[in-house]
Amino acid sequence: MKSLVILSGAGMSAESGIKTFRDTGGLWEEYPVEQVATPEGYAKDPALVTRFYNERREQLNTVKPNRGHEILGELEKEFKVTVITQNVDNLHERGGSTHVIHLHGELTKVTSSRDPYNPAYIKELRPDEYDVKIGDLAADGTQLRPFIVWFGEPVPKIEEAIKAVEKADIFVIIGTSMNVYPAAGLLNYVPRNAQIYLIDPHPVAINTTRHINVIAKGASEGMAELAKLIQP
Ligand code: OAD
Repeated sequence: MKSLVILSGAGMSAESGIKTFRDTGGLWEEYPVEQVATPEGYAKDPALVTRFYNERREQLNTVKPNRGHEILGELEKEFKVTVITQNVDNLHERGGSTHVIHLHGELTKVTSSRDPYNPAYIKELRPDEYDVKIGDLAADGTQLRPFIVWFGEPVPKIEEAIKAVEKADIFVIIGTSMNVYPAAGLLNYVPRNAQIYLIDPHPVAINTTRHINVIAKGASEGMAELAKLIQP
């Protein structure tokens, strides 16, 4: 089976009703990124940041995977699929993908505020636990914080992602503005003989000399077209 590696971003979930970050009307227009997506913002106002992620988590109960997520799940019948996502929602999993690397963390998980990447403290929340309160503690006795990789923090899963990209026969970039590193740098690890596709309804500026097959469509229509183009 050929190896299909996907790098997804917020646009993947847009048709499910989750806002992107940098488009007009995006999340970073409403909430300053320094406030809700940095360790400094959290240190300054943990209650506000906790509320912000509680709201994002609550939204998970009301949204569903879109056709794009589902087609990607179905492609596992024909390809060895690895999904590398910058998204913190769980829509890839719910759309049928079984090998998902979450570069920027997961909304459904919480962790210690002192030692966030220690696996001993990372905990999966049940849907009835989604509303985290100030005073809810991790196993090391510190306040539970969202299991989200904030700006300025290391991206522990990047090595695993690089290994997957280095084995790609087909590499697909979908729904990401390619503004955030190290995720955007994964393109540099795509083998020379692999095919590269980009699915996005808007132009994306990418700094590369590689040939990129652009599918200028939204995630659902774009994934349907990709599935036809790469049929084994
Ligand atoms: P952006 O908001 O930067 O980019 C979203 C991309 O999705 C843009 O290129 C849009 O054109 C595209 N898009 C919009 N609608 C779409 C649709 N229906 N189908 C497909 N694509 C569509 O989001 P990301 O690139 O994911 O990090 O942002 C990367 C990271 O920055 C996020 O993971 C987050 C953010 O700050 C953290 O929170 C740490």
